[in-house]
Amino acid sequence: MRRKILDEMPEIEWIEDETLRHNVTDAWAAAVASAGFGAIGDMRPSGNYDSLPLRTGTQADHIRSVARLSLKIAEEMAGLFPHFRYDRDLMIAGALCHDIGKVWEFDPENVARWKADPRRVGLPSMRHPGYGIHICLSAGLPEAVAHMAAAHSGEGELLLRSLENTILRWADHTFWLVAEAGDLLDSDSQWQPPAKVSTPI
Ligand SMILES: [Fe+2]
Repeated sequence: MRRKILDEMPEIEWIEDETLRHNVTDAWAAAVASAGFGAIGDMRPSGNYDSLPLRTGTQADHIRSVARLSLKIAEEMAGLFPHFRYDRDLMIAGALCHDIGKVWEFDPENVARWKADPRRVGLPSMRHPGYGIHICLSAGLPEAVAHMAAAHSGEGELLLRSLENTILRWADHTFWLVAEAGDLLDSDSQWQPPAKVSTPI
């Protein structure tokens, strides 16, 4: 599973700190396996469990694109403004983990259960930022990475985002707005998840 995660998101190798690099890989491997997915790409390639998916490309492609966009923004600012300081490793790790909680929100069995009785535990019971905190902290990832998973989206409007999370927030938002404007989203999608695997953690 670790090999598969690295194949899907080779940008993990850009993280210089060895412990952080391994923890990001392990967190994704455990998260994907715990949900019964075989790969990150088995999840619906969309921003929310019920929003329009990409015509082509996978959820992993979204995440790695956001990581690359984030890094380009940071590098651009640092290139023009010498006093601009950001943490490159945290920028990459946080961006690559920002949607890790989708293994819960996008699990087709969870979605079917929530839709069957929305007032029981909610619809969804929690969004991916909420579940992302659980995964990041359980996996021993830094508080700064957990913060980026927790607050890159609307949840972050209730607090002050870190610098790296501010960059991530707008890179993520930009990705979906440009995807929509560029006709990359499939409004007629009959997207179905692949059959689940029963891989133990
Ligand atoms: Fe995202």
